[in-house]
Amino acid sequence: MNATAAKGETLIELVGVRKRYRFGEAAVNALDGVDLRVAKGSFVGVIGRSGSGKSTFLNVVGGLDRPSEGSVLVQGRALMGRTSDELAAYRRQVIGFIFQSFNLVPHLTALENVALPLALAGQGYFERRRRAQELLDKVGLGARTGHRPTELSGGERQRVAIARALSNDPQLLLADEPTGNLDSRTAEEIMGMLRALHAEGCTIVLVTHDRERAERYCERIVVLEDGRVKEDRTTSAALVDLSAASVEAAPPAEGA
Ligand SMILES: Nc1ncnc2c1ncn2[C@@H]1O[C@H](COP(=O)(O)OP(=O)(O)OP(=O)(O)O)[C@@H](O)[C@H]1O
Ligand SMILES: [Mg+2]
Repeated sequence: MNATAAKGETLIELVGVRKRYRFGEAAVNALDGVDLRVAKGSFVGVIGRSGSGKSTFLNVVGGLDRPSEGSVLVQGRALMGRTSDELAAYRRQVIGFIFQSFNLVPHLTALENVALPLALAGQGYFERRRRAQELLDKVGLGARTGHRPTELSGGERQRVAIARALSNDPQLLLADEPTGNLDSRTAEEIMGMLRALHAEGCTIVLVTHDRERAERYCERIVVLEDGRVKEDRTTSAALVDLSAASVEAAPPAEGA
């Protein structure tokens, strides 16, 4: 995936981004002047206290929310001024989202959930099922394609969600607390999978409360506080050679 993307090139750029919410008389600056660049092919962890603006940041980058001020550029193109339909097309073509609560469609099977975005993108029945099967194989769920979300474990549900996020071959994976509902062992599996996707060339922005895992897996940590970038640094994980990682062979879980 996107292995051809030149590393180091800017993929995301935020300039003076503010997001103000009115709440009755009061106003909250969920983002309060964020300037940030994210390079293609990087794996960035965004951490910070509850309410510090992490999800707002992700939603603004993913075109789910519009900033009140400032600009967001992705692939050198501003998101500002785009219509809702254009933003939807941007999400479909460029972004893969992964959420804490998986957000799978309950009455659809794993295969159908993964195939759904491809159906929305106009892909034919057989081709999208073939692709969905391929993606479920990739995340190690080739034998669970007929299961509905309630018939899967939490970790398996998140893998289906990852397969779905990959269906459009996204430039950018945005993950909001993807391990928040998982036990430690399963969280390691999911992080191992993200690491392997990163090794394949995918750019990943991961929002998490889990500072310790972010340090181990991400190359760079951005700390938000009250809607501002409080800290921005590379981690020791940035020095690790990722060439040996693969999605199928996620690292063994610790502390199981
Ligand atoms: N729709 C909204 N209306 C009003 N205020 C909002 C809205 N969405 C978010 N906020 C406020 O903006 C701030 C940032 O919210 P955000 O969801 O980005 O935080 P977060 O860092 O993701 O928190 P958590 O770790 O709890 O998920 C919070 O103070 C929140 O109350
Ligand atoms: Mg949040």
